[in-house]
Amino acid sequence: MTPLRVPALGQEPGDTLAALCKAGGDPLRLNVLRALHSASFGVLELAQIFATGQSGISHHLKVLAQAQLVATRREGNAIFYRRALPRPGSLGGALHAALLEEVDALALPSAVQTRIGEVHAQRAAVSRDFFARVAEKFQAQQDLIAGLPQYRDGLLSLLDALALDPRGCALEVGPGDGAFLPDLARRFARVVAVDNSPAMLELARQRCQRDGLAQVELQLADALAEPLLAADCVILNMVLHHLAAPAEALQQLARRVAPGGSLVITDLCPHDQTWARAACGDLWLGFDQDELARWAQAAGLQAGESLYLGLRNGFQIQVRQFARPDQGNTPS
Ligand SMILES: C[S@@+](CC[C@H](N)C(=O)[O-])C[C@H]1O[C@@H](n2cnc3c(N)ncnc32)[C@H](O)[C@@H]1O
Repeated sequence: MTPLRVPALGQEPGDTLAALCKAGGDPLRLNVLRALHSASFGVLELAQIFATGQSGISHHLKVLAQAQLVATRREGNAIFYRRALPRPGSLGGALHAALLEEVDALALPSAVQTRIGEVHAQRAAVSRDFFARVAEKFQAQQDLIAGLPQYRDGLLSLLDALALDPRGCALEVGPGDGAFLPDLARRFARVVAVDNSPAMLELARQRCQRDGLAQVELQLADALAEPLLAADCVILNMVLHHLAAPAEALQQLARRVAPGGSLVITDLCPHDQTWARAACGDLWLGFDQDELARWAQAAGLQAGESLYLGLRNGFQIQVRQFARPDQGNTPS
């Protein structure tokens, strides 16, 4: 049997287990863990979700952090909490994993679920307002971080390597001004593009008209609220960091990938350029590569090809393909 990894110097093994048991010994903390199942929240958001004071929720988060049940990620001035992963082979690792499994069988009180929806809606509204305001200077805004010309070649090489059926259908979520639609139209018999910003969709419509892209259908819709068709290739270019709950979004979008098809995501790697929030409407400062793969896996997809592109301005782009296995049914 492999020996268990020992706790940090000065800490008795019993302390580690006691911290874990203490952290799990409170219904509110269990519900916080449940709420963090596929989302991360800031302290103020958690205070809102659990209708409790900021200092109270901070105390509970501190207890959870001491037990290494939650981890933090700094996003500018804000700190976001997510679940920490159980570490198999570490002292308490099995207890941690069992606790999360039991917690996930709990249903959150309906008032908490409602308030989670409200927090997500507040985040989504920030993003929608941004795109309503910036349509006319959209390209300049995009170029502040990463415009399509900087990742187009890499993205196309990945798409072409997938050898997707040209008779198939592509679904682009958040096409913005539609700059990638001509590339998709050259590769797929049918292209559907869904954007929830009327101003952005108008730019995409003008481009389709200009370029004679008859096979592109544009839809004004929230891609996460409306039932969308299942496509052979679902593509999101620089969209995920504008979505309120990216892990949940992947669950929904994965259902739109036909069996044997792919979800292709282009987005930023983690960065600390907080000005991107105000200047570019970003809700998230990039995504950890492993975390993105875990979300996709939890959504029933398998990590496939990936490309990483460093930019001169210091940002790094990840182009990721996640495949839906051919067998089995597409979840409804
Ligand atoms: C940063 S732009 C990216 C545009 C384009 N894909 C590109 O790379 O240039 C993000 C786009 O996603 C759209 N968007 C954000 N949330 C959305 C949602 N829930 N459903 C559909 N479109 C959304 C925005 O309106 C915007 O057009």
